[in-house]
Amino acid sequence: MKRRNFIKNASLTGVGLTVGSAIIGCKEIPSEEKTPIIENKESELTATLPIVIATWNVENSTAKAWEVLQEGKSSLEAIEQGCMIEEANAEGQSVGLGGLPDRDGNVTLDACIMNKEGDYGAVVCMQNIIHPIAVARKVMEDTPHVILAGKGAEQFAVSLGFKRENLLTEASKKAWEEWKKTSEYKPIINIENHDTIGMLAIDKNGDIAGGCTTSGLAYKMAGRVGDSPIIGSGLFIDNEIGGATATGLGEEVLKTVGSFLIVELMRQGKSPQEACEEAIKRIIKKSPNFENFQVGYIAVNKKGETGAYSIHEGFYTTTYQNNENISNAPDFYNKK
Ligand code: GLY
Repeated sequence: MKRRNFIKNASLTGVGLTVGSAIIGCKEIPSEEKTPIIENKESELTATLPIVIATWNVENSTAKAWEVLQEGKSSLEAIEQGCMIEEANAEGQSVGLGGLPDRDGNVTLDACIMNKEGDYGAVVCMQNIIHPIAVARKVMEDTPHVILAGKGAEQFAVSLGFKRENLLTEASKKAWEEWKKTSEYKPIINIENHDTIGMLAIDKNGDIAGGCTTSGLAYKMAGRVGDSPIIGSGLFIDNEIGGATATGLGEEVLKTVGSFLIVELMRQGKSPQEACEEAIKRIIKKSPNFENFQVGYIAVNKKGETGAYSIHEGFYTTTYQNNENISNAPDFYNKK
C-alpha cells in the first residue's frame, strides 16, 4: 500500500520555483552556469531544482537540507547538515546515535560524501563520534586521503574537536541483549526497519552532491564494512549526469557496484527510474536468495528527475521538491 505524507513547509522557502528563464530560485545564475530548463508536455517551463531526495522517511533531514539550499548554500552543505539530523536522532537505530551495535556490542559507523567536483571522503568502522558524515567531509577536504578507518578516523575526528560520546543507547543495548539470547547470525536487513540514510541534493546552481551514513548491518561481525562508505557502491555522484545512493544489504550492493552502475546507465540515456530498476535486476540475477534481503536505490539526474526502486515492499523515500516534502513508497520488484 502506498503511503504519502505531505509536509508543506512554506516557511522554509518563500522562493518561487516556476521560472520563465534560466532562474532557479531567487538568484539569477550567471549564464555559463545556467541549468537546463525542463520542458513538460504542455510546453510549460517548470523548474524542478533545487531538490533533495533521501532514502526512508526522513522528513526532518530533507527539510534541513532544503532549508540550507534555500539559503543559497551548496548541495554539499545541504547534504552534510541534512544527514546530521538523522545521525543525531537517538530513535533511529541504523544511523549515528542509537545505531544497533555489532555482535560484540560496539556501535561502528560508516559514511561517505561526494561533491560536485567528484571528490570523495569516507570513514569506516568509526566509533564514539555521532557525525560520521561531517568527519567524512573533513577527510575529503582536509586530508590527502579518501578513507580513514577505525581508531584513525576517531582520532582524526577528535583532533578536529569532535566529541567522543557513547553511541549505544539503552534501547539499542536492550535490543542487542535480546538478540544475544537467540544469537544466530543472520545477515538480513528487516525491510520494515528504517535503514541507511542516503541523500542526494541539487542546489540552485544545478550542482549535485550526495552522502550516505549508517551504523551498518545490526549485529554484524566486528570489523564488517558495508556499501555505504564505499564510492560507487553506497553512493556515486557525477555532476554532469546525476547521482545515486543505496540502502539495504551492503554486501549485495558492493558486489554489483550499484550506485556507479545507476549513474553510468543514466549516462547511457536511461531515466533515473529505469536505471534503479536495472541495478536491482542485476542483484536479483546474481543472488537467487534475494527473498531474504532488501536493497533499495534512489537516483536523480541533472534535470532533477528522480527514480527509486527496491527488491521488496517496505522501502520509502523522501523528496523535497517544488516546496513539498513528500515521503512515499516506490515501486518494487518482488510482487507476490
Ligand atoms: N547498507 C548498509 C550496510 O549494509 O551496511
